[in-house]
Amino acid sequence: MNNIKDHENLDGKKVLLRLDLNVPLKNGVIKDFTRIDKILPILEFLIKKNSKIIIISHVGRPKGKVNQDLSLRPICENLEKKINKKIKIIDKNIYELKKDEVFEDSKETIVFLENIRFYEEEEKNDLNFSKHLAKLADLFVNDAFSCSHRAHASVCKITEFLPSFAGLQLETEINALKKVTTEIKKPITCIIGGSKISTKIGVIKNLIPKFDNIIIVGGMANNILSHKGNQIGKSIKEDNCEAIIEEIFEISKKNTCIITYPEDVSVGKSLNDNRKIKKLNEIADDDLILDIGPKTIDKIKNIIDKSSTVLWNGPAGYFENPNFAIGSYEITKTIVKKNNNKSIYSVVGGGDTIAVINQINAIKDFNFVSTAGGAFLEYLEGKVLPGIKSLN
Ligand code: 3PG
Repeated sequence: MNNIKDHENLDGKKVLLRLDLNVPLKNGVIKDFTRIDKILPILEFLIKKNSKIIIISHVGRPKGKVNQDLSLRPICENLEKKINKKIKIIDKNIYELKKDEVFEDSKETIVFLENIRFYEEEEKNDLNFSKHLAKLADLFVNDAFSCSHRAHASVCKITEFLPSFAGLQLETEINALKKVTTEIKKPITCIIGGSKISTKIGVIKNLIPKFDNIIIVGGMANNILSHKGNQIGKSIKEDNCEAIIEEIFEISKKNTCIITYPEDVSVGKSLNDNRKIKKLNEIADDDLILDIGPKTIDKIKNIIDKSSTVLWNGPAGYFENPNFAIGSYEITKTIVKKNNNKSIYSVVGGGDTIAVINQINAIKDFNFVSTAGGAFLEYLEGKVLPGIKSLN
């Protein structure tokens, strides 16, 4: 894998820079800036080298349709302030865009292409779309480790049409995770939560042989609770997961990995509601499970206390409402306490997980913070990520 820092002459070169600026947004307001802060070094590096930078990113899942609620504009404006430079956002159709038009003024150094997932070709890893993107630049840099598990056009196919390089943050993340996975100390606990059930549920069975405990919280836990015969009311759940859940429990038995899932929950009638603690047999048809309950929190604390390593991706609840952030806060505090007396090695990954930990200013108390969520889990699984493979 070639790294952009070893490139000899970047002067005046047009660089297509894939970043992951998929930050938590609510009504156009950025809720956590970590992913933006982490890409400042690559921008500073390319600016110093006098390159012309064309930023590509996605935010959210617009599913191939233009959706102004998922515009990159607020992120672009935030970045402008951070680097104190004007950044133009180009929302013209990429197919109509010509290389010479990207930088109209010779003083322009950075432009932003509007959310790349407004094009359905992006997630299809489309050849023509990638070719067209490639025509806009002289070389490609992937500094989006957290998107590198996606075989998408601006991550993978593009590398077939341009000289391609790893970015600074991507290399940092890979080196750190390599170290974590080779020097890992048992007992190891992996906490998996969040709302991206389909991204994560398939990963769990491959993690079982590697870890002593897997704690399932967040949206995915609803699937398990429902599988075990509990009512989950109106809570989020992924369809067609029965076979995979059976497999998870089968494999865990053979590997002596203990799977922990909620024993009680915190529910609301809507996302903005107050919390009500419920036993599993008390969940009503119109309840939404939005966090883990106190009994589950105690159980998780106990497991963390006995662990030497903890890897965490995905909040335990709907942390956007503080009433349902308690599970995630308690997990954070338990890890931090152990971290402060150096009795645990802690790694956390993912945009939402970082956001919830940042709400209580605890991010500095973890040993390593990865910007990646799904990519982090797939890396732990031992998979070669498609975005990394195509750079090789
Ligand atoms: C992430 O947040 O993990 C990446 O931006 C990938 O997003 P996705 O799960 O929507 O592909």
